[in-house]
Amino acid sequence: MTRPMSAGAGAAPPSDSVAGAWWRGAVIYECHLPSFRDGNGDGVGDLQGLIDSLGYLSDILGVDAVWTGPFYASPLLDQGFDVSDYLQVEPVFGTLEIFDRLLTEAHARGIKIIVDYIPSHTSDQHPWFLESRSSLTNPRRDWYVWRDSKPDGSLPNNWTSEAGGSVWELDPPTGQYYLHSHLKEQPDLNWRNPQVRDALFEVLRYWLGRGADGVRIDVAHMLMKDPELRDNPEVAAGAHNPYDLQHPDFGTQIHLYDRRHPDTHQVMTQIRAIVDEYPDAVTIAEIEAMPWADWAAYYGADLGGMHLPFPFRLIETPWRADLLRAELEGLYAALPTGAWPIVALGNHDRMRLATRLGPAQARVAAVLLLTLAATPCLLYGDELGMADQPVPLSQQRDYFATATGGVSRDPTRTPMPWNNDVNAGFSTADPAQLWLPTAHDAAEINVDSQLAEPASSLSLYQTLVRLRGTADALRHGDITFLPCACPPSVLAYERRSESHSMVIALNLTSEPTSVTLPSTGSVVVSTTGACRGSTGATLHLGADEGVVIEVKEGMHSHEDH
Ligand code: GLC
Repeated sequence: MTRPMSAGAGAAPPSDSVAGAWWRGAVIYECHLPSFRDGNGDGVGDLQGLIDSLGYLSDILGVDAVWTGPFYASPLLDQGFDVSDYLQVEPVFGTLEIFDRLLTEAHARGIKIIVDYIPSHTSDQHPWFLESRSSLTNPRRDWYVWRDSKPDGSLPNNWTSEAGGSVWELDPPTGQYYLHSHLKEQPDLNWRNPQVRDALFEVLRYWLGRGADGVRIDVAHMLMKDPELRDNPEVAAGAHNPYDLQHPDFGTQIHLYDRRHPDTHQVMTQIRAIVDEYPDAVTIAEIEAMPWADWAAYYGADLGGMHLPFPFRLIETPWRADLLRAELEGLYAALPTGAWPIVALGNHDRMRLATRLGPAQARVAAVLLLTLAATPCLLYGDELGMADQPVPLSQQRDYFATATGGVSRDPTRTPMPWNNDVNAGFSTADPAQLWLPTAHDAAEINVDSQLAEPASSLSLYQTLVRLRGTADALRHGDITFLPCACPPSVLAYERRSESHSMVIALNLTSEPTSVTLPSTGSVVVSTTGACRGSTGATLHLGADEGVVIEVKEGMHSHEDH
């Protein structure tokens, strides 16, 4: 039998603090607050709705932590990622008192609450920016990035924004331009100013001090830019990663100087030091797709940076066994000794899995997500196999798209379908008042109908989450990719802890195929039900079938362990 190739995850024993950390064995659920459940009948999901859903999250789905999405005071031009007061709750989402109640009730159920930390930019309505723009000499002028035009009257540099067009917006009263990496209503803070850092550190202390269990740091890779603000190099047309585009303008250049300056890591370490004042709090960094070595650098020297930098490359990898395997091997090879990764296959900014892969492969993706040697992070509704929904232009909310012609993220963000009631149980508001329309197939694809159906996507997720929680090999074990006689359509790997081993084989196509495996065992999960019972050395995988096999003790046929 071919000797399996180790991808290295098992080679690096976790440091004590990582090995014992709650987030290492956790399943994280991204609820995207406005879309999850409306607790006060105004048509928008909110903190009360999240409290009302804790029973589902803990008892039915069995997740360990919820990443909330922003709920801070905001004009809501970018879904709350445009903050006008970091320390207040936007009324449409609730109150501080409701947030505190969320913490109490979630903790009583053993669920951790991870909140968003949005340090790179504020809303243009934030009092800091209103002061900053008020005059050239205002004490907060330098809290944002202001520049004159070039001597020839052209823009300060050529950088393009994620929302399209230039990052520079002229502010006529003072005649200078301010920098905005996203919408013009989202001016970037100047992280080279120590006062800005201190103010943002206080924001961290405020939410962690209230009892939040961690932060998801928005666009962490964008905090530090080239101090000279040099022009980005242009790219040849078509050379840019097509999955990385929120706006076509963004892809016209290599984003070399407008982000990811090496000083970013110094800031990550400072943020981590603040977070470490709160025992057990976790830092999850949103960072864009980048080479694995650069991704790994976000863990910091001696793991003093981020606990869990997001591996965005995986979301952007085409759904092919060879490509996914190459990326996963790259991830594990780059993983610093003692570190542990997080994995997501979708989020609120990207097309849903069921749309990108189709419903059958979305189930295979569920197996991949929940069986890797990584903390899984799953987007609300993906457990139902929910697909993107066309949202008529008149009902679109994503200002990224409506204001600038970028790609709308609304289709991914339609309300969570709970049942067959009005608005699929998401809200009691008049349907015309919903912040986004409910899915057209919500009558079939909703929590209640899937709970009653053993073959449903929700049942599959329940099984996988439960299995991950109880099977030591899945929760903590090493990972080894199996090249042995696998056809190119199959991604296969083994998860092994001291006492226990499981083999996962995923057919990423709709052609049935056979795989030779190093161990025999019994099928504990199949996405289609084609494989059942005991397995021999040759496994016949049906179309679109992903399986988890519990290896029988003593049945390993390779000799390297
Ligand atoms: C992050 C968020 C995205 C938001 C952007 C600007 O990428 O995930 O939704 O638009 O930051 O804050």
